[in-house]
Amino acid sequence: MITVMGATGHTGQYLVEQLLQAGQQVRALGRSASRLQPLARLGASVLVGEPDNAAFLTRAFRDAAAVYTLLPYDMQVPDYYAMQRAQGEAIVHALRENGTGHVVFHSSLGAELPAGTGPIASMHEQETRLRGLNGCNVLMLRTGALFENFYGALGVIKQAGLNGDAVAPDLPIPMIATRDLADVAAKALIARDWHGVVVRELLGPCDLSYAEATRLLGERIGQPDLNYVQLTAEDMTGALLGAGFSPNLAGLYVELAQAINQGRIKSLEGRHPGNTTPTRFEDFAPELAAAYQAM
Ligand SMILES: NC(=O)c1ccc[n+]([C@@H]2O[C@H](COP(=O)([O-])OP(=O)(O)OC[C@H]3O[C@@H](n4cnc5c(N)ncnc54)[C@H](OP(=O)(O)O)[C@@H]3O)[C@@H](O)[C@H]2O)c1
Repeated sequence: MITVMGATGHTGQYLVEQLLQAGQQVRALGRSASRLQPLARLGASVLVGEPDNAAFLTRAFRDAAAVYTLLPYDMQVPDYYAMQRAQGEAIVHALRENGTGHVVFHSSLGAELPAGTGPIASMHEQETRLRGLNGCNVLMLRTGALFENFYGALGVIKQAGLNGDAVAPDLPIPMIATRDLADVAAKALIARDWHGVVVRELLGPCDLSYAEATRLLGERIGQPDLNYVQLTAEDMTGALLGAGFSPNLAGLYVELAQAINQGRIKSLEGRHPGNTTPTRFEDFAPELAAAYQAM
């Protein structure tokens, strides 16, 4: 039995499907029975509960040979670090109670830094908590920026006819599709062939700037001249607040953009075949385009 947190999400859904296709028994976790229903139909057993509920997670991890974990959030979270800490502590409590042998954690480039990285600092905290587990084999998958982040840009593109963020336009950044992360996670959860604490970077097929990704997306949505504009910290904050982000999370995103621009969120091992994954932004852009057309 393999337990998957965030099973209705971008990574989780695909991961559950991959595990089921490989003949694994899967326990899929989420907060809503109806959202989990499609995975139940595919053959997963589903459990409904909150990811910061230690008693729920202790039940959900019982008898699992391996567990996939992440720290989810939403844009309106009033205190991001408090929410992430509550989830992280609940996860570690449940792993410890069950003596779970193998756990995969979706982490991020930059998670080696304790602070000054916006939302990524909470992944540093969680990596530290997981390192404190005795006898548990922990695999931290540190990804670059997710292609799926661009779903959040579609509204602005629709309204303003441009894409904007505080990240510098021409800075090459490792970007990855969550399905590539899910493929790596599925193989690891099935093989359980790592020992101790292992950090693995996943960088996508190539580094890509925001300007280039915007251009590729523009081509797919019939706007080949779609521009990327770098926003000031103040304008970025205003844009995020206008889009419904809490002041706390808006501030953390601006801090993250500054950390990226200063070159502090980076691969530590450098790109090599083992951390380069296949899905290109061009392969993913049709999904973004479909979501854009449906808006
Ligand atoms: N964005 C990036 O560039 C980046 C980079 C590195 C790492 N990460 C990590 O990757 C994660 C995102 O991965 P993903 O795209 O696969 O996940 P996702 O689709 O954003 O979310 C996974 C699931 O989390 C649950 N969820 C959403 N909001 C929640 C909330 N407020 N409280 C509790 N559960 C909530 C939802 O399930 P239910 O509503 O059905 O429960 C959702 O399906 C981030 O949380 C971050 O930790 C992100």
